[in-house]
Amino acid sequence: MKGAGEKLSAGVLIGKTVSESEEAAGGCGKGERERGLPAGGEIAGAPEEMAAFFERRLEIYEEHQLREIQGAFEFYERTAELLPAQAGARILDLGCGTGLELKFYYARNPGARVTCIDLSEKMLEALQKKFSKYKPRIVCGDYFKTDLGEKDFDAAVSVESMHHFTYAEKVPLYRKIRAALRGEGRFVLTDYQEDDDAAERAGFAAKERKLAEYGLKDGGFYHIDTPLTVKHELQALREAGFSHAEECGRWNKTSILLAKR
Ligand SMILES: C[S@@+](CC[C@H](N)C(=O)[O-])C[C@H]1O[C@@H](n2cnc3c(N)ncnc32)[C@H](O)[C@@H]1O
Repeated sequence: MKGAGEKLSAGVLIGKTVSESEEAAGGCGKGERERGLPAGGEIAGAPEEMAAFFERRLEIYEEHQLREIQGAFEFYERTAELLPAQAGARILDLGCGTGLELKFYYARNPGARVTCIDLSEKMLEALQKKFSKYKPRIVCGDYFKTDLGEKDFDAAVSVESMHHFTYAEKVPLYRKIRAALRGEGRFVLTDYQEDDDAAERAGFAAKERKLAEYGLKDGGFYHIDTPLTVKHELQALREAGFSHAEECGRWNKTSILLAKR
């Protein structure tokens, strides 16, 4: 078990307790999120490779997500509510990690058929251990490169995974996700989103400085937060061909965006 002071997301101290009153304030549009960088802030230490970053913190991962990101219980629950309720619904979960969102979703729809994609073998092993009775289909890989198929899914979901990528990287990914949906298919994107353009730019500038400092090239997967604004994220979803995209709720810096095919 890692001690207090361990960091999961830049700027977040693991082991810090969120008081009940703060937790209660974490509803839609309320509450403070104690994660991410302040706009233009510097990132401590050397950049860590994405999968390795999570694997090193596997033991404390879920507790961190639920306790340190304010409003987490509510936004995981709300995300699950936005996914199809019918038994046999086919769901694609991108960047599923240990399957925190699935804990909330399987509780509502144990008959769902979920395909889970993640870069990290160890996160997926933990997911498999917890949810083997639901028989999720597990794919260890990069969702940018994985073939997601065509019209195979009733819904796609991604929680707290895509805030490391640029607008230009996201549009083709969202296009691919849309192509994987069928009928009235929806994409529920629950993620860390910035408030304004200045903060968005500051995140990317800080990443560039950090990579340059360590002589690293962009293009690798490093765990460095570079969230887009809600406005840009919705724009990327529309540019990718989704007929409708809206923000359904916000808990400080976490928004749920709902895109309809
Ligand atoms: C913060 S965790 C979120 C996990 C889970 N969705 C949750 O909310 O607890 C982010 C996950 O996204 C995965 N990830 C990041 N980039 C990815 C990519 N390009 N392809 C597949 N998985 C990716 C990481 O390995 C990590 O498990």
